[in-house]
Amino acid sequence: MKILAISCSPSRGRNSDTMLDSFILGMREVSGIEVEKIYLEDVHINSYRFENSKDPEEGEKDFKKLVSKIANDISGLVIATPTYNFSVPAHLKNFIDRIRFIALDLTQRNKFGQPVGKLHNLKTYFLVSGGTPNWAEHILFFAFPAFWLRALFLYFGAKVMGAFYSGDIRTFENKKILDKCFKKGKKYAIRVLKGNSQGMLENIFFRPPTRD
Ligand SMILES: Cc1cc2nc3c(=O)[nH]c(=O)nc-3n(C[C@H](O)[C@H](O)[C@H](O)COP(=O)(O)O)c2cc1C
Repeated sequence: MKILAISCSPSRGRNSDTMLDSFILGMREVSGIEVEKIYLEDVHINSYRFENSKDPEEGEKDFKKLVSKIANDISGLVIATPTYNFSVPAHLKNFIDRIRFIALDLTQRNKFGQPVGKLHNLKTYFLVSGGTPNWAEHILFFAFPAFWLRALFLYFGAKVMGAFYSGDIRTFENKKILDKCFKKGKKYAIRVLKGNSQGMLENIFFRPPTRD
């Protein structure tokens, strides 16, 4: 089974990127799992506009390959990102805006009048770094990317297996947090392999609108 791990911080080797590396080491402990890591920064993606809303444009070869991979080839998607201004870096936000055509079926509506998600085969996990201490992130969880990303990918029809936040600005050298990422990566890969359903939290708090 193939899992794609996307590192979305412009700062390579720093916090979220290192969390992802440990998570990948954990995933690679599980046989039957193939992991590919990419840096989103390496993929040229034009800004969303109406004209490119249904397909990649000329000159977006890597983006075209990436969306085809997400739509057809992979079972797992791991996104690692820092928190930037209560949100994510602009390139990740733009990537999410641009994958709308593979993520949503705009010809169908659910009972809330919303488009129907198409990423049913994806089991997702999110690793998030931030400058806010963990205790404060727990209270203000709705103002952080882990909350938004989970809700968003449920809307896109994907399964959400969980998210992990680190508020240590020196996470890249924090062995305790990186060990946790390793363990979480291994657990996630086992769940992808076994076809387990999404996490308890997601079932309770993030129930997406279902089809009629
Ligand atoms: C432009 C910018 C905006 C930021 N905004 C937030 C924020 O809203 N909340 C937060 O907790 N941390 C914020 N931070 C801190 C980063 O999320 C934090 O340093 C993180 O560990 C960086 O991760 P990275 O090393 O993976 O890039 C911000 C940092 C930058 C550079």
